[in-house]
Order: sequence, then C-alpha cells, then structure tokens
Amino acid sequence: MASDHHQPDLIQQTINKYSIDSNDKDFLQRFNERIGTISKLYYQLYATHPKKDELFEQLIVTLFKANNERSLDLKKQDEIKSNKNQWFLSNELVGMSLYVDRFAGNLKNMSSKLDYLEELGVNFLHIMPVFESPQGESDGGYAVSDFRKVDPKFGTLEDLIALNKKMQKREMYLMLDIVLNHTSHRHQWAEKAKSGDPYFQDFYYMYDNRWIPNEFEEAMPEIFPEAAPGNFTWSEECQKWVMTVFHDYQWDLNYMNPMVLREMLDNVLFYANLGVDLLRVDAPAFIWKQTGTTCQNLPQVHTLLQLIKQCVMVSTPGMAILGEAIVAPKEITKYFGTGEFTAQECDFAYNAVHMALQWDMLATGETEVMMAAQHEILKKPYGTSWITYTRCHDDIGLGYENEMIKAAGKQPYEHRKFLMDYYSGKFPNSPARGELFSSNPKTGDARISGTLASLCGLEKGIYENDPTVIDEAIHKIMLMQAHSMFIGGLPMLFYGDEVGYTNDYSFRNDPGKSYDNRWMHRPLIDWKRNKLAEKDGSLENRIFSQTQKLIQIRKQLSVISDFKNLTWSTPQNKHVAVFMRDSADDRFFGVFNFSSFPTKLTWYVFREHTQAPKRLLDHWTGDEFDVGYDHEFLELQPYQFYLFEVID
Ligand code: GLC
Ligand code: GLC
Repeated sequence: MASDHHQPDLIQQTINKYSIDSNDKDFLQRFNERIGTISKLYYQLYATHPKKDELFEQLIVTLFKANNERSLDLKKQDEIKSNKNQWFLSNELVGMSLYVDRFAGNLKNMSSKLDYLEELGVNFLHIMPVFESPQGESDGGYAVSDFRKVDPKFGTLEDLIALNKKMQKREMYLMLDIVLNHTSHRHQWAEKAKSGDPYFQDFYYMYDNRWIPNEFEEAMPEIFPEAAPGNFTWSEECQKWVMTVFHDYQWDLNYMNPMVLREMLDNVLFYANLGVDLLRVDAPAFIWKQTGTTCQNLPQVHTLLQLIKQCVMVSTPGMAILGEAIVAPKEITKYFGTGEFTAQECDFAYNAVHMALQWDMLATGETEVMMAAQHEILKKPYGTSWITYTRCHDDIGLGYENEMIKAAGKQPYEHRKFLMDYYSGKFPNSPARGELFSSNPKTGDARISGTLASLCGLEKGIYENDPTVIDEAIHKIMLMQAHSMFIGGLPMLFYGDEVGYTNDYSFRNDPGKSYDNRWMHRPLIDWKRNKLAEKDGSLENRIFSQTQKLIQIRKQLSVISDFKNLTWSTPQNKHVAVFMRDSADDRFFGVFNFSSFPTKLTWYVFREHTQAPKRLLDHWTGDEFDVGYDHEFLELQPYQFYLFEVID
C-alpha cells in the first residue's frame, strides 16, 4: 500500500520526469482532487506488483495525455453536461441499439437513416461493435483484434467521427462498446504472445499444464456450454492453455498485470475523445479471476471499475459509463458502487433482471416473482440509472434468484422449465416462437433467443394468418415496450422491434454464425419493409406508430426522469403491475395487465402511497377518469395498460 507521504512525491516527480503539463485549469483541479483516490484504488490492486510504481507513473501520463488530446468542442460538451447535473437521467432520452452493417450497410450510409430514427423519436444510438474483428470469429464484433481501427466492412474511423458530428448536430448521443474482458486471439498482443514473447504472454492467463486450469474449472461456470465448453483453450502456437471464458477465439485479458489496465484505460480514453457519450463496458463481471471462485463479480472487479471511473472523471468527464453486468439481483446494484464509492462506479447498468421478469410476467400472467425481486432492484443509488429494455442482441437469461421464485410460491426448477418451454414454443398453445440458447445439460440451465415480435406471438399469427393472434401479439409488444419505457431509466430499443421483425433463421447457413442462435434476433433490415411504417394499417405501421407514441409521451413527462422516484403498489390483483413515479409537482401511475383475460383493480391503489388524486389522464388513449370509491373498479382488457398522469 502506498504510504501517504510517498504518493504526492511520486506524482510530482512524474510530472517533472515526463515534463507533462496542461493549461486546462479545470482538468488540473479535477486531477488534484482525485489523484489521491486513484492512487489508493490502484495500489489496492497492485501493491505487490514489482513494477507498480513505474506503471502508476504511466497512468498519470495517460491521464494528462488524454485530456490534452480532448478537443475544445468536447471540453465544451463536458461543461454543458456537468451543468445539467446528470444529463443522462432525463426522460427526454430514448435509445436504440443496432448493427451498422445490418441496419444501414456501413457507417457512411448510417447518416441517411438518422431521419428515420428521429421520426421514431430515438435520440441516443448504441452502435454495436465496429472495431476490427476477424470474420467468422467475431462474436458480433465482441472479439476485437484492433481497438483503434474500424473494421473495413463498416468504413473508417473518419466515417465514425463524421457520423457522430452529424448526430451531435441533431442532439443525438452516442454509445459505443469497449470490450474490456478479452481480445481476439488475432489481436497483436495475442499474436506476440503466440510468437513466444513473455511480456505479452503476461497479458493473458496462460498455463503450461492443466494444474491451474483444472483448479479454475472446478468453480467456474460455463458461459457458452454448447458452442465453447470449458474456460480454457490449448494454444498450439504457445504450447499453453489460455483462458477463454467466452469463445475459444476470445482470450481473457489478465488485469493482475497493471500494464493491461494501462493499455485498456488508454483505449477507454481514446473512445471518450472520439466523442462517446456513454461507454458500454462489455462483460465487466469477468475482469478479475481467482481460483476457487466463479470468477465473476469479485471485489477487485469493482475496484477496477471505480478506478476507471475516476480516471474518466479526471480526463474526459463528459463520458458516462455503463457496466454490462448481466448478473443476479443481489450483485447488480454493486456495480453502481458501494460505501464511499456509491454512485461513483458505473453510471448505468442494464436492468437485465427486470427485463427477464417482464418476460416472466408475460408468460405466467402473474407479477409475484417480479415483485419479489424489487427490494434488490430498488437499491440502485440516486444519481445512477438503468438501461431498460425488452430485447437486445443477447439472449434472455432467467438469472434471478431461486428465493424470488419461491417467494411467489413456485418451484424454481419447474418455473424456469415452464418459461423455457413457453418461449421455445413447446408448451401447449404457447404463441411464442423462440429457441433455447446455451442449454447446459449438466445444470439444466438454458437462456432464450428470439425477437420481441416472435416471442410475443407475431410470427405464429402471421404464419397462421390469424388476425386475433396478430392483434394479441401487438398488444403484448406494446405492453412490454410501455412497461420498460416508464419504469425508470434510459429505454434502449433494439432495431427491428419498432416494426415487428420476426426471427431470421438464415444464420443457420453461415458457418460463422450457425453455432450461435442469438443471430435469429439480429435482423438484416429490409428498407422496403421498414418503409411500410408509413403505410396506414400495415403491421409495420401499427407497431411503429404506437412505439413512436410511447416515446412522445415519455418525452412530455419530466416525472419519468430517473430521480429514484419509483414506488410499487402492493398488489391487490396478482395479474396487474402498478407503480407510481412522483416528483414535487407531478404524479404518474403505470398500470399493466400482464394476463390474457380482462381484470380489475379497486381505485384504492391510487391512494395507497400518496394524497388521494381526483382525476387521472391516460396518456395512451387520451381518456380521463374520475378516481372512484374503494369498492369501485378500474377495468382492464387483456394486456391493456394505462399511463396515468394525475391531473387533479
Ligand atoms: C457481452 C456481449 C455478448 C458477447 C459477450 C462476450 O455479453 O453482449 O454479445 O458475446 O459479451 O464479449
Ligand atoms: C452471459 C454473460 C453476459 C453475456 C451473455 C452473452 O450471460 O453473463 O455478460 O451478455 O452471456 O450471451
């Protein structure tokens, strides 16, 4: 551990030694405020490393360099954002996640699609990985062989910057990924490791024999048990076992080596200087490994993320951080930081638990398991936020705890089995058309693939040409989207869902994809079809216009900003989820019937936690309601929802 007097000396010496300087007073102030914390976090991780001080010096150099390279434009943005006080909590933000090639062909073409996105109401873009990634071994871009070179199939770095400039003119925000946990085995570090260079072999977890790998395997779960069983791969070139938690071509980076942190931090700050507003840190749960543990969510993971966050706050403060930790409810809120680092780790996390619970509610028509998870979810600290969503490019994992299922009076094994059968369409009369992903016969676990539309029954409805099934599917799609847009957080739509794309099974014919059925829900956009969004009465139009309307309603209601203002109503009817969002001058109630039959609620629900409202406006239909007596009822049709604002 660095002693207190040693560290300021080291900092000053470093500044002299490398003659680093800055004329940015705000930066210097932030640097001075935070360098003590940075040093504390750094030495917590690396106190015993032989090169600890040398690499700490380099870290300081990195911070200065990144700020010196930050454009004046971005510095101005930093200031605007800091004056807004947590710009990212706003109800005015609505995001979409998309693959550039599958959506628009390439980066240059993307700009011609901005009108479409703006028409829908999207003002925040998650551009899925565009950095170089070997074809056929790319995991959708999550196996990066060069963190700074845009893959030629998308265009160039200049195209990306030009696109972002156009987005900024429209006040659209940009989110990109940093794949922190691993590189492609074709990254130059891996190539050098393969050629026998011990310096780069130390960038990865490499072992001459199976002793340590076997020890690791005892406690490590498998992420892709079908496509990539085990967590180690034999490298012929190195004659060593390499840790590969995801696919065999994704080599896990060894953050016990501070050089890896320094290099990756440099990449983080490089992305910040491209103008990224929100950086999605891919798979952070996995970035620290220790034998005898699951190698997920270890305390050092949080120290590393806190350290990265501090560095970003010093050098490139306008960039917020999203931790893509898809982990159990008990673990997830820790990614927002704990103790003195509360709200000082990740600004965002995915509300993957709630996402999965929405699917749970839709299949069962019951809200109890979802409610049993809320005490964990609500621990999210003030000033941080969720990415809320119904679908993304990944599978749906049923990762909530067994106790939550038991609390709802259900058997965990049977319950999960039911959900898997339901969404894979095996359960009698299930309208869903999905597939199991990564089934693990050893544990009985599986996750679910499929598009929003197919999982809601639209694929079946279209196939059977049955207007009743189609109508019900559209009701479900809108119920799911509405719930996730109003619950609190930044809603992230997945491209294609706005016009109801069903599963695409063509991935089966592509050897680079056929082993991974997540590709069934990553559509190739056919613009002739999306154009139908403009044609009254078309399926595409029905879904697009309703999605657009939800977005417009969200943008009107500042009470939907995520100021930790969510209160759940005590369920009086287990089929209906009811929550309140309130602020000093407004109150909102979201009411959602997840069941396939009509049901009702007594009006008491609107008095439970708040001064009795008299009159409610449902923004979805425009209808107004007088709040009745306790023995009177509000009625709900199958899958109906209300978006109520208290108007009196
Ligand atoms: C993240 C990505 C997923 C990818 C994995 C490995 O979870 O979302 O698509 O397979 O990381 O990088
Ligand atoms: C696992 C990981 C998650 C990743 C997913 C990819 O669930 O925990 O990070 O997104 O696999 O399918």
